[in-house]
Amino acid sequence: MSAPAERRTFRIAAIPADGVGVEVVAAGRAVLDALASASGGAFAFDWTEFPWGCGYYEKTGRMMDDDGLEALRDFDAIYFGAVGWPTVPDHVSLWGLRLRICQNFDQWANVRPVHFHPGVVPPLRKADHTELDWVVVRENSEGEYAGFGGRNLAGRGPGNEVALQTALFTEKGCERIMRFAFDLARTRTRRKVSSVTKSNAQQYGMVLWDEVFARVARDYPDVETESVLVDAMSAKFVLRPEDLSVVVASNLNADILSDLGSALAGSLGLAASANLNPERRFPSMFEPVHGSAPDIAGQGLANPIGAIGSAALMLDHLGLPEEAERLRKAIDATTGAGVLTRDVGGSATTDQVVAGVIERLGL
Ligand SMILES: NC(=O)c1ccc[n+]([C@@H]2O[C@H](COP(=O)([O-])OP(=O)(O)OC[C@H]3O[C@@H](n4cnc5c(N)ncnc54)[C@H](O)[C@@H]3O)[C@@H](O)[C@H]2O)c1
Repeated sequence: MSAPAERRTFRIAAIPADGVGVEVVAAGRAVLDALASASGGAFAFDWTEFPWGCGYYEKTGRMMDDDGLEALRDFDAIYFGAVGWPTVPDHVSLWGLRLRICQNFDQWANVRPVHFHPGVVPPLRKADHTELDWVVVRENSEGEYAGFGGRNLAGRGPGNEVALQTALFTEKGCERIMRFAFDLARTRTRRKVSSVTKSNAQQYGMVLWDEVFARVARDYPDVETESVLVDAMSAKFVLRPEDLSVVVASNLNADILSDLGSALAGSLGLAASANLNPERRFPSMFEPVHGSAPDIAGQGLANPIGAIGSAALMLDHLGLPEEAERLRKAIDATTGAGVLTRDVGGSATTDQVVAGVIERLGL
């Protein structure tokens, strides 16, 4: 993620959307604004907040404005909360906002670090933040979430409708995400890429994926590789996570595996992610992995670490790697000091964690 031109005021579109998304985006913004105001004018964030989400849908019949993509196009980045609420069908809310942005802005690489934090007791017996640390690289533009298919034959009467949901695998789509994963592996202590498929059962798309992986791997002789079926990889996440560095997988498989990873690290609320358009033709989008958590929304219980970690990924992307590292250290110092929300065994509120991180930024 290299630095853009010299501009130091970053225009960021904030889309908190629904449920705890509102709370965690406010948390991330507070931390980023604290960093900016302590930078002595070196950089600043110019925020524009968009009201889109399920509440907007109930009022207007749309998850976002018709010209919403045009409105977003010129921002330096998008900072996203979570979309979904019980009053709107999940496929309507997800496709109407988050997937619409990801797909139209060709954010084809979704980076989801599985990071273990000091002070958080994870369910894995062998887990230790000093030795476990891996990244899930998710193909974010096609695969099982390509949106191809249809429903028909309901006219034949009750019980006769059929639905097709087709996964799309292109050589180009496979190759670009694999090169991204290999390039990322070269920046890490352990240079290894694990490719995940279910190519024993899915003999077209995923066999193509395997073949492209073998071909791309030949260009990276310094990077260790393995190909693992998704069922075996889910077991490996639990039993041998120390053997992982970069895990590259299709849209659905990586979505599931990264939730497993964040749960193993202690909570869904901890996991950060970046939806990248690596060519920078469009803004990239940074968001916690978790959803809108209707069960705890509005109570000050949301863990903001995933959203704050996503803000650190955004700083990397904006060309502020030192600030990103400072923020990551402040997050770890906060969890290490036992300032933890309820989902990770503590009693701190969202605001107390935010205050803890700001206090430890060393400003
Ligand atoms: N990227 C997204 O916008 C996204 C991702 C996943 C789900 N969703 C949507 O979110 C809604 C709820 O989905 P779900 O319940 O399957 O998943 P969820 O991630 O919202 O919640 C799953 C569990 O994790 C907990 N949790 C999630 N985030 C937390 C946080 N920050 N702090 C503490 N605990 C947290 C919740 O309380 C819940 O028990 C649905 O409408 C779904 O479509 C959106």
